[in-house]
Amino acid sequence: MSNLTFAIIKPDAVKNGNTGKIYDRIISAGFKILGAKLIRMTLAQAQGFYAIHEGKPFYDELTDFMSSSQSMVLALEKDNAVSAWRETIGATNPEEAAEGTIRRDFATSIGENAVHGSDSDENAKKEIGFFFSKSELITNQ
Ligand code: CMP
Repeated sequence: MSNLTFAIIKPDAVKNGNTGKIYDRIISAGFKILGAKLIRMTLAQAQGFYAIHEGKPFYDELTDFMSSSQSMVLALEKDNAVSAWRETIGATNPEEAAEGTIRRDFATSIGENAVHGSDSDENAKKEIGFFFSKSELITNQ
């Protein structure tokens, strides 16, 4: 069990002006932000990040969408961070997401679902490393 997870505020949420509201959810759920940056993912980055989904019917749509405009990548810290963040964001499909979760409140579809969260400690480490160098993360507090 690790205290780190990786999150993305996806292009739909950034475009819709929901970045600040989602930051509020992050803070009020008790996460500490160790790193954050606004990026425009390249198609190659999106394809690399989501390589695990290569070959699935939604892969091209997903990688086109993730590289279509700006998103915010974040490294988050909290006890049991992976499951705590997944609870905060809700189910992948916003129609199935619980009341009060980020996807329930801000996602518009399964493809444009406002936020990403790592699904395991191992992937959290890999995903943080995909977008952040060590010097970009707060590690001394
Ligand atoms: P995310 O948590 O970023 O991880 C993989 C993403 O694939 C997921 O959120 C969804 O946005 C997307 N996804 C999963 N299933 C589908 C689907 N059936 N159609 C379109 N996109 C999907």
